[in-house]
Amino acid sequence: MAVVKANAYGHGLTQVAQALPGADSFAVARLEEGIALRQAGIRQPIVLLEGVFTPAQLAAAIAHGFELVVHEPSQLALLEACDTNARSILWLKVDTGMNRLGFRPEAFAVALTRLRALQPAPHEIRVLTHLACADERESAMTREQVARFDALIESQTSERGPRLVTSISNSAGALGWPEARGDWVRPGLALYGASPFAGEPASNFWLRPVMTMETTVIGLRRVLQAKRWVMAAPGWQLVTAASPSWRRAMAMVCCGACRTARRSRSRQHAACSSDVCRWI
Ligand SMILES: Cc1ncc(COP(=O)(O)O)c(C=O)c1O
Repeated sequence: MAVVKANAYGHGLTQVAQALPGADSFAVARLEEGIALRQAGIRQPIVLLEGVFTPAQLAAAIAHGFELVVHEPSQLALLEACDTNARSILWLKVDTGMNRLGFRPEAFAVALTRLRALQPAPHEIRVLTHLACADERESAMTREQVARFDALIESQTSERGPRLVTSISNSAGALGWPEARGDWVRPGLALYGASPFAGEPASNFWLRPVMTMETTVIGLRRVLQAKRWVMAAPGWQLVTAASPSWRRAMAMVCCGACRTARRSRSRQHAACSSDVCRWI
């Protein structure tokens, strides 16, 4: 399931989807993104990660054949009031510890029972969860989330027949936590060639950035003494002019918000005319 929400992380929604004819499905956040993909001729399954919130949105989603994430009681009520569910694939989202979207584990069984009782019955019901910190290699939280998820799936499987189809992992989960893969993985970041793990370059995972960013130098400054040069966002380095590997000039470039730029510069270098410079 290729995650192309948020304009494919800025890479262009339809261009990315069209460049991935082998994707088994696409995941977007909102109905409008799904419709844009259909209008661009994308025929693979499309999952709406936020689901829908009004009867009109539900009708449009079903008409376009979208798969819906259900993470809120109000969405259950919406489906219960609808008579065209038969064509839909529903993904019940369980919050195993991220504390963002999804039913708490203790509410999972009731939510699943309500989905199973829908008339007409949906085409299929699947289950997903989202990992809070799979990008931390030793995260106890990830182990706990996976254990909670497996226990929920197990409890429903033994009591009620065939095993539910599942999805757990984002990029970090898929690359770093084999036990967390489930039936469907949902890579976003990795699709675009970025490593989800701090300090581990994308090339460790055979990933290559799919976008080259070009910009202009809008200011140049000679650096005479050690200084803190950049905004104090976590992870930014304190770089000293005294460091011998440094060319003692700093160029200012236009490249968007600092966090976005930091996240995407997988090799931490930029080409500047014929020179290679480090990002700071
Ligand atoms: C539910 C869900 N699954 C998967 C992803 C993809 O995550 P990543 O870009 O870390 O691979 C996201 C992105 O935020 C998401 O919200």
